[in-house]
Amino acid sequence: MKFLKFLLLFITLQLTAQQGGMWIPSLLEGMNEQEMISLGSKLSAKDIYDVNQSSLKDAIGHFNGGCTSEVISPNGLILTNHHCGFSQIQSHSSEENDYITNGFWAMNYGEELPNEGLFIEFIVRIEDVTSQVLQGVTEQLSEKEKQSLIDKNSAVINKTASKEDWQGSKIKAFYKGNQYFLFVTERFEDIRLVGAPPVSIGKFGSDTDNWVWPRHTGDFSMFRIYADKNNHPAKYSKDNVPYQSKHYLPISLDGISENDFTLVFGFPGRTNEYLPAVAIEQITQKVNPSRIAFREATLNVMDEAMKNDNKTRIQYASKQARIANSWKKWIGENLGIEKSDAIAKKRAFEAKFQNLVKEKGLEDSYGNLLSDFEKLYLEFESVNVKRNNFIEVFLVNNELMQMMLRVYQMENANKKGEVAFNKTREGTIARIQGIHKNYNATLDKSVYNAIMPMYSSNVDVSIYNKTAFTNLDDALEILQGESKDVLKKLNKDKAYIYAKPFVDEFYNVINPEYQRIITEINALQKTYMKALMEVMPDERYFPDANSTLRVTYGQVKGYAPRDAIYYNPVTYLDGIMEKYVPGDYEFDVPQKLQDLYADKDYGQYADSNGKLPICFLGTNHTTGGNSGSPAIDAQGNLVGLNFDRVWEGTMSDMNYDPEICRNIMVDLRYVLFIIDKYAGAHHLIEEMKLVHPKG
Ligand code: ARG
Ligand code: ASP
Repeated sequence: MKFLKFLLLFITLQLTAQQGGMWIPSLLEGMNEQEMISLGSKLSAKDIYDVNQSSLKDAIGHFNGGCTSEVISPNGLILTNHHCGFSQIQSHSSEENDYITNGFWAMNYGEELPNEGLFIEFIVRIEDVTSQVLQGVTEQLSEKEKQSLIDKNSAVINKTASKEDWQGSKIKAFYKGNQYFLFVTERFEDIRLVGAPPVSIGKFGSDTDNWVWPRHTGDFSMFRIYADKNNHPAKYSKDNVPYQSKHYLPISLDGISENDFTLVFGFPGRTNEYLPAVAIEQITQKVNPSRIAFREATLNVMDEAMKNDNKTRIQYASKQARIANSWKKWIGENLGIEKSDAIAKKRAFEAKFQNLVKEKGLEDSYGNLLSDFEKLYLEFESVNVKRNNFIEVFLVNNELMQMMLRVYQMENANKKGEVAFNKTREGTIARIQGIHKNYNATLDKSVYNAIMPMYSSNVDVSIYNKTAFTNLDDALEILQGESKDVLKKLNKDKAYIYAKPFVDEFYNVINPEYQRIITEINALQKTYMKALMEVMPDERYFPDANSTLRVTYGQVKGYAPRDAIYYNPVTYLDGIMEKYVPGDYEFDVPQKLQDLYADKDYGQYADSNGKLPICFLGTNHTTGGNSGSPAIDAQGNLVGLNFDRVWEGTMSDMNYDPEICRNIMVDLRYVLFIIDKYAGAHHLIEEMKLVHPKG
């Protein structure tokens, strides 16, 4: 009986053999290509990445360094998520022109809105440069010496890499520094906003539905890349023209069904799939609870203020979304790790590793790895939590303290002389202006009152009435003049006097200690990675995400997170109407969408069952940064837009579990429906190439 159970388990595992992984696009030939074909793909490795011919990769752009976007027309039209373009949408919005609430559609090129600072970067070529980067790096060197040699070698490679004048390059570490790749890039800087649905579509369900399935969010926005006359990257100019990329994605009108192959192509930011159990324990039991608490306290105050005042709602929309997003993710991550018993499983895996090390006679090299991790993480715990708490207060939640951190850095720069001071002052002023663009001192003070007692017993509520920095003009006044006068004025400011010892402690005690230990941990992690590959050579190893272009693939699939619950992989417009709460800030539905639903006016965008599809699930292994990534079908057509993961599976950054980890995509047919039927932006549809791959 036991054996039968085991056999059954084995068979189901084989059937759902979907193990996750974020793969390097230039290295897909062999194992990945075969596996993709077995999952239903008709694409070759060269269709996806090729340096001599155009390939899918030419359509995939890194959006502002944090999201993914893709080209969907011969005229540089770009698709990404609503939440990726949100700060641009917000910055063009005012109470009179509220593009957040009403959406925005440029009806011709002239109406498209430029966005200072926004960029999109494409990958021209990827090259393994491990041996050049590691030249001269020996085990005799200290970690610091190793790093400085690696930096020096990298600078030489970057300088001598063959590339055109308008191209750039960068080198990134893979497999914890056991391998290095060079990326030749093209970065476009004239990116204009073309369209965005109202927030009631683009962020339907808001925080309640964020990280959750079933989902009904039309999380998309559209931009256009402009280039110079030679089709090369250029700064904004009214003379620039729409960019023609080597490849743009055709869009399938046939959609997806369960078990269809999907490939998600994008720029995942950061994962940690090879952590020891002790690290996962520390993150989930110490770090996460602490940062969750800081954000919860902030959000309580912020949500209340936003509900009560329309101006505050617009002002804090972007800040609130950023704070709430990770807050909710960490809660889900903890639940997932606990529920899947991930730590115990890791421990069992480590015991197996330890045995193999012994069996293979590798104890001299690798025998102490795991016990060294235990020691280091024990030492790391308190400083790790303290540093995170500092970040929560001084970099995320409290705006006055953010300003204080900046002016502290400016005072510090002064030690290096007037030039350094002036340079830092410029950045400081820009940052303070940025904060004040959407600042509510009363709200910020309430945040301070809520979170500062969690950081220190030294809380002084009066500082808000005695500082210049709650008012932009007063703050700028302090920052005017020669450095010694600026610093004199600054050191009389009550908020600065209050904050300075905390920042001092951070720079002189917390951060150096943190850096010391994390350097040792990283060195150990590098050896551990190498050891895993040597001791268990038959496992599949993909490098952790590092904001470089990756391919992840899988199939459209539902999932069963709890006893007796099974989630279908596709949602429909009917579900939006089920969730509809008139007037609610999260679940209101625009009248026009209700009318289209009542008329069943879906045109060519309906599914074969006559319903309008909204979102779908896949087994693609994604993370933050994959937002806006195209979901591509077996033939290379666009079928979806990645934007989220399911609550039970957000732990996939540390522990990918094929049973419950799912990525969430918007169905492209819903995107087209909104552009066409809802917004009437037919000219955009005409620019695209719509296809029927299923006949
Ligand atoms: N959770 C998704 C991601 O990490 C979507 C966030 C935007 N949506 C939201 N409701 N805040 O970015
Ligand atoms: N929503 C995430 C993003 O913005 C994607 C994810 O974490 O699944 O990249």
